[in-house]
Amino acid sequence: MTSLPNLEHLWMPFSANRDFKSAPRLMNEAEGMYYKKQDGTPVLDGTAGLWCCNAGHSHEKIVHAIQDQAAKLDFAPSFQMGHPLGFEAAEKLLSIAPSNDFQYVFFTNSGSESVDTALKIALGYQQHVGNPEKKILIGRNRAYHGVGFGGISLGGLPYNKTHFSLLNNVDHICDTHNPEKNAFSKGQPDWGKELADDLLKVIEKHGADQIAAFITEPVAGSTGVLIPPKGYLDRIRQICTEYNILLIFDEVITGFGRLGDPFAAQHFNVEPDIITCAKGLTSGTVPMGAVIVKKEIYDAFQQRDPKVIDLFHGYTYSAHPLASAAMIAALDVYSNDGLFKHANTLSPYWEEKCHSLKGTDHIIDIRNLGLVAGIEMAPRDEKPGTRGYNVFTDAFHNHNLLIRITGDTIALSPPLIAEKEHIDIIIETLRTIIPSH
Ligand SMILES: Cc1ncc(COP(=O)(O)O)c(C=O)c1O
Repeated sequence: MTSLPNLEHLWMPFSANRDFKSAPRLMNEAEGMYYKKQDGTPVLDGTAGLWCCNAGHSHEKIVHAIQDQAAKLDFAPSFQMGHPLGFEAAEKLLSIAPSNDFQYVFFTNSGSESVDTALKIALGYQQHVGNPEKKILIGRNRAYHGVGFGGISLGGLPYNKTHFSLLNNVDHICDTHNPEKNAFSKGQPDWGKELADDLLKVIEKHGADQIAAFITEPVAGSTGVLIPPKGYLDRIRQICTEYNILLIFDEVITGFGRLGDPFAAQHFNVEPDIITCAKGLTSGTVPMGAVIVKKEIYDAFQQRDPKVIDLFHGYTYSAHPLASAAMIAALDVYSNDGLFKHANTLSPYWEEKCHSLKGTDHIIDIRNLGLVAGIEMAPRDEKPGTRGYNVFTDAFHNHNLLIRITGDTIALSPPLIAEKEHIDIIIETLRTIIPSH
């Protein structure tokens, strides 16, 4: 067995560092649906890594694309310079965009950077088109938009804001989670469309002429898989259009087949003005994010002297050659292997199996859509989150299954290459573990 590295010096993100280091969970290799622990024990991936390895692990076409690119062109400066693959990657990404109105892509390195970039673009756009008062950004409670200052300000997670200064000119509307009305809904809940009208209250409070944009995850993932009620997103779109507010869909989780379509925008047939994405963009292989915008938004930035920089924003690694190669290969794999269609075909079975856990001790709600599910357990008295954490560690250490938890909610999002037999293992393992906690 390979010995453990010195674990001390890595300050791990969003982790209980001391507890992890006392009983580490290390992945050493991965292929297809499985990770391998250091001793070679396979671990079934119930979460596509961290919602990102949609093509499964170490897909040979993506691996080769990255290897070949590393040997050909390691890096090219991104400001006032470029390399062919970056442009090809932008065009490729637009080929799966919700409509031809989306014509431009700004590359970043993560979901957080995509969100903060999108917020800046939205503010800049309103200035450029002659709405100088439109400076307020609206988000939702229980939203996760990454960890940049924009993302935490627009997000709805109190712990993520503690200790940090936030953006001014931000407000929030209510989230859509309502277990009394919607517990154990299969797919989109019937009740809750009218919650979209909370946006009207914020508009009334500030005035539409003050509001630049509204950002939302079509399905909130990281805060426990919150599925939008039927008609909710359509109503949000209507309101944004009526009051001239840009609608940003944060598709960092929902992009690239999670709901069986390229984006949630296609799944719900609701078109935003800006899409943020990352994760599945490269199937998690090389860090990359993107902001996809409609032509009119890009055009608004192109009115001044062509020799002057049109957007004072960018990253050293925007459209990095390795990420661009990985992205193009990942999108080819999704298409050639029919993975979005496969996710779609598998989703009724997924729904049936997930909901078969209803009645299991401690489970108080099950929510699902596409190949994603949230299984909520009752919190222990005075110790919320401990049941979830115990189930998570038990699943990994004793049952070789990777799941994800948010508080006491298990979030499942297997790679899109999953087959029924993998779903069976995930669900039957949970059926065994959960009651014992
Ligand atoms: C909806 C959403 N936005 C933004 C992010 C942040 O992405 P990253 O961790 O790549 O910065 C995430 C991460 O889970 C997310 O789910």
